[in-house]
Amino acid sequence: MNEIAPALLEGWMRDYYFNTEIDIGSSGVENFSLAELYQLTDLTPEELNRVVFHDSSSLGNFGLRKEIALRWGNGDPEQVMVTHGSSEAIFLIMNGLLQADDEIVVLDPCYQQLFSIAESIGCKLQPWRLRFEHNFAPNVEEAKRLITSRTRMVVVNFPHNPTGASLTPEEQAELIGAVAEVGAYLVWDAAFADITYNGSPLPNPNLQYDRSISMGTFSKAYGLPGLRFGWCIASPDVLARFVHLRDYITLHLSPLVELIAQRVIEKADRLLNIRLQQACTNLEILSEWVEQHQNFVDWARPQGGVCAFLHLRGISDTETFCHSLANNYKVLLVPGSCFNYQGHVRLGFGGATSDLNEGLIRLSKALATYSVNDHSC
Ligand SMILES: Cc1ncc(COP(=O)(O)O)c(C=O)c1O
Repeated sequence: MNEIAPALLEGWMRDYYFNTEIDIGSSGVENFSLAELYQLTDLTPEELNRVVFHDSSSLGNFGLRKEIALRWGNGDPEQVMVTHGSSEAIFLIMNGLLQADDEIVVLDPCYQQLFSIAESIGCKLQPWRLRFEHNFAPNVEEAKRLITSRTRMVVVNFPHNPTGASLTPEEQAELIGAVAEVGAYLVWDAAFADITYNGSPLPNPNLQYDRSISMGTFSKAYGLPGLRFGWCIASPDVLARFVHLRDYITLHLSPLVELIAQRVIEKADRLLNIRLQQACTNLEILSEWVEQHQNFVDWARPQGGVCAFLHLRGISDTETFCHSLANNYKVLLVPGSCFNYQGHVRLGFGGATSDLNEGLIRLSKALATYSVNDHSC
């Protein structure tokens, strides 16, 4: 077991999330308040008052798992486990299914938890690269060359953080076929699955391949990151391994969180449609801004999610630029270094439209005045 690497994105957020004014760096939509949940779902204060803080069950309350299975799975609640955000699911998946020397194919760049835990276990990583020169389009032929009889697990996240790239349904089917051919696990991080711009969300691979493990979360498309609610869908024998591990860490979710989550799922489309509409409006604003700032930036338009991975022309050290932007303009943007990808920044456009507009005004000023020599703007 190697020491686990510091999570670079979480470190950046720790430094700047709470002391900037405008957030155009986060990967979620505008967050909801409890008062808004009362309006948008059938949840009532009286119902919250009736919650008794007893233990919940290891996999989560059955009715809640049933709702998740009906909306995102194959209808079978026995294949669902609720988790503290999808981060907990990722931790359980990696620690429950991997051993030293296992080979895993994983997207690069990628949300760090999807590979650093495996690395710390001593796994060998085979990066499936997304290249800006190719508009970050995933090349399934390349993945197929990386997937061999030695592959234990293939780890993907579509729509993708940080680029917004995705697969077509045909490419997804091809990828699933390649993974099934060698009998590896397919880990499908569906954090942004419900936000797409060119067609319907991709189907859950669990419907086609029983060694798939998919994860979902309320932290991104549903605007509830502070609820810490997520889930994973997998075969019952795989979930049993996760329960075994969780018995040593978090045991189960709070009945309060489970109640709120259940009401949200029952009215999920209400929350989603509001934020999806906002994301579409914001993406158009961002597209126009990119068009007007071609001297400074270049991009691959996202297919889904609410992140774009902008290339900043002439600024290879985007980390210094982002420090300067946060300190001098109070704007949160995430440098590509958090994803081991230089020359780029992650811009999150899912927030309030007024914040995006103000953030882009300040970013324009910073780019126009940034001096590569004295590293200030
Ligand atoms: C791709 C991806 N997966 C999982 C997560 C974990 O989120 P949470 O634990 O809040 O569900 C994130 C958070 O940024 C993410 O970007």
